[in-house]
Amino acid sequence: MSSREALAGKRILVFGGHRRLGRAIALDLARKGADITLTCRHSVGDAEATVATILATGGSAQWRRCDLASHADIADAVAAVLTSRGGLDAVVVCAASYRPGGAEPAAGTDAPEILHENAWAPVQAALAARAALQACGDGRVVLLGDLAGVRPYRGYLAHSMAKAAVHHAVAGLAVELAPEILVNGVAPGAVLRPDDHPEQDWARLQRKNPLGAAALQDPELPVRAVCAAVAFFLTCPRFVTGQVLAVDGGRSAQW
Ligand SMILES: NC(=O)c1ccc[n+]([C@@H]2O[C@H](COP(=O)([O-])OP(=O)(O)OC[C@H]3O[C@@H](n4cnc5c(N)ncnc54)[C@H](OP(=O)(O)O)[C@@H]3O)[C@@H](O)[C@H]2O)c1
Repeated sequence: MSSREALAGKRILVFGGHRRLGRAIALDLARKGADITLTCRHSVGDAEATVATILATGGSAQWRRCDLASHADIADAVAAVLTSRGGLDAVVVCAASYRPGGAEPAAGTDAPEILHENAWAPVQAALAARAALQACGDGRVVLLGDLAGVRPYRGYLAHSMAKAAVHHAVAGLAVELAPEILVNGVAPGAVLRPDDHPEQDWARLQRKNPLGAAALQDPELPVRAVCAAVAFFLTCPRFVTGQVLAVDGGRSAQW
């Protein structure tokens, strides 16, 4: 069965599916026939635009507001899918912050928030959907990790710690939620430049992998690779769980 056939009609909740990498993932899944509910926190215009794009191409989508810091928001997002779609087949968690910090003195640090929104909140999102995913018969969860989870970024101690926790959460949730729900992760390297990251430095980071410049001739390729990895975990035979796939041009493999 192709991934297009396997995803057709699947009701997928994409936290943070409104912009950037989450948008690319939501659009890719929608193109393959999935019924997308995406969430945004502040960027309502992006959520509306992404839903409009999916609808304009004949797909099915809706959006909800959700701050992952709020358990009530997470529960509401899950409930919205159940009410409007009658069930839920998969959850993908893309929403995350990318904030520096953690190595400064404890007073005044944002580290607890960074740890919560990047590590504990994705776990909460998976757990909030647990009953619905168990009921659907082929439940799937995909969490977005980060190269930082295995190779800490200088200046981003809390973010890196949180992403390392996501890697462990994938394994832990896979055990906790088995056998009904498969839980896997995708850990991108430098695939999509944050708006505030200087272009030249980003190009330098992207070339720091064994595949080098050759892999980057098509600038869309890294994002496409992430989308393909997410789609794989949402459609693979039910014998793969607890795995995190690095999508980083091999950078995490290189010392
Ligand atoms: N981009 C890359 O190259 C790269 C590299 C490694 C890993 N990743 C991972 O891939 C995923 C997507 O990356 P990205 O670069 O597209 O993400 P991003 O631009 O850093 O963030 C995407 C969105 O997440 C939302 N968000 C942040 N905190 C939130 C919260 N507490 N509750 C709800 N939403 C929240 C924000 O939405 P609003 O604007 O609506 O507030 C933000 O625009 C993340 O997990 C990221 O860590 C990306």
